[in-house]
Amino acid sequence: MALLLLVLGLRLAGAQRFDPQAVVQRNYNMARISGPWYSISMASDNLTRIKEDGDLRVFIRNIEHLKNGSLKFDFHFMVQGECVAVDVVCQKTDQNGQYSISYQGENKVLVSETDYKMYVIFYMQNTNNGTETRVLALYGTPSRACSEDRPNPGCTAYELGRSAPGAWSWAA
Ligand SMILES: *[C@@H]1O[C@H](CO)[C@@H](O)[C@H](O)[C@H]1NC(C)=O
Ligand SMILES: *[C@@H]1O[C@H](CO)[C@@H](O)[C@H](O)[C@H]1NC(C)=O
Ligand SMILES: *[C@@H]1O[C@H](CO)[C@@H](O)[C@H](O)[C@H]1NC(C)=O
Repeated sequence: MALLLLVLGLRLAGAQRFDPQAVVQRNYNMARISGPWYSISMASDNLTRIKEDGDLRVFIRNIEHLKNGSLKFDFHFMVQGECVAVDVVCQKTDQNGQYSISYQGENKVLVSETDYKMYVIFYMQNTNNGTETRVLALYGTPSRACSEDRPNPGCTAYELGRSAPGAWSWAA
């Protein structure tokens, strides 16, 4: 009995904890990525495009896996100090977890890693007039990644303007 309680307790305490065994790096079940997410951080080999007023600096709110296989992103981004909401539908490709969209050139968008519960990492490659820019975006789930007793600084980041996600330069 004690052992059972111990196991149950560990399960409950660990429910919000990161489980390395849950990490998926291919054969994604995209339906499981549907839901609310918030931007934790971004990295790019061109910082200009993800820092303040950068054209690729977007704040995720929700991802929806559509019936036809496309992936809909609800973003917020800043245009001249104003917060603007946009829906972006990325078309599926014949590769699992890979999408494409025209925005400031052509973009390849793909899932790089997820545990479906706490985080998802997207990789984006933008090709605009011969210039290639790569971006990594880390998204977290507000409800599932955080708990009241263990606040996660990322959890406040989804409130635009209060604490914006970090932006890092990413050397190729
Ligand atoms: C980075 O992006 C800015 C803004 O789009 C652009 O002017 C600049 O040429 C880019 N730098 C590189 C190294 O691609
Ligand atoms: C899938 O559905 C969405 C929303 O209705 C639409 O914007 C998109 O173009 C569709 N994709 C394909 C490949 O038909
Ligand atoms: C694309 O690049 C070429 C060569 O650098 C330049 O002449 C042209 O103006 C660029 N076009 C756009 C739309 O930026």
